[in-house]
Amino acid sequence: MSAVSADGSTESPFPRVVGFLGVGTINAAVITGLCSGPSSPERLVLSPRGAARVAALKASFPGRVEVAASNQEVLDKSEWVVVAVLPSQAPDVLGDLVFRPSHFVVSLMAGVSNRDLGKLMAPVPSANIVRAVPLPPVKDREGVTLVHPRHPRVMAMFDLLGIAVGVDEEGKMAKMQTVTAMMGAYYAMLRTFHEWLVGGGVGPADAST
Ligand SMILES: NC(=O)c1ccc[n+]([C@@H]2O[C@H](COP(=O)([O-])OP(=O)(O)OC[C@H]3O[C@@H](n4cnc5c(N)ncnc54)[C@H](OP(=O)(O)O)[C@@H]3O)[C@@H](O)[C@H]2O)c1
Repeated sequence: MSAVSADGSTESPFPRVVGFLGVGTINAAVITGLCSGPSSPERLVLSPRGAARVAALKASFPGRVEVAASNQEVLDKSEWVVVAVLPSQAPDVLGDLVFRPSHFVVSLMAGVSNRDLGKLMAPVPSANIVRAVPLPPVKDREGVTLVHPRHPRVMAMFDLLGIAVGVDEEGKMAKMQTVTAMMGAYYAMLRTFHEWLVGGGVGPADAST
């Protein structure tokens, strides 16, 4: 399957196989968005932790999603790897793995710097490591995602899941990421307004506009 680019031509930003290390809330949203859209990798290889979640993704997208027996198998089978374990888990999880210099890594982990990622994923060159901060609406392909550095194929990937916002400096990325963390409070506030309006007799559709 292919993406439709601005000039009307079709091309996919993905290699054939993309691995996902740490299939929690955000990677599950990314996987769902990719598999439900017009373009996705041919094969998505998932790490086995979070058995119920990975089984549900495999059942939802049969033939495309595969569950690996180990984290190393994810790396061995994939050209790109999207990493989303918790930042505190990164040294243990990544330190045990053997990366290839040809791997391309998209790290979704908040606050783990490019420099630390380079050390944890050696011998992957720094040019092959991109950080991204997607928000959960990527599940419905309506999420905004920060991307640093502004890598064209990673930008294209997250444009398929909503809108990618390229950030040219790591310091700016940290600041912008902090603001994305306010998303939960923002949606909670909107829900409170909605409930208050509906409780006051306004129809749910009108209350949502
Ligand atoms: N949630 C968001 O909106 C969001 C947005 C942008 C970026 N992020 C970043 O994405 C990362 C993950 O966040 P999250 O909210 O998705 O967290 P999460 O739901 O807690 O997911 C973390 C996943 O990592 C798995 N895991 C733990 N140890 C592992 C190991 N040794 N090997 C493989 N998988 C392992 C966990 O499996 P178990 O369940 O079995 O422990 C869990 O499925 C964080 O670094 C966060 O900063 C999150």
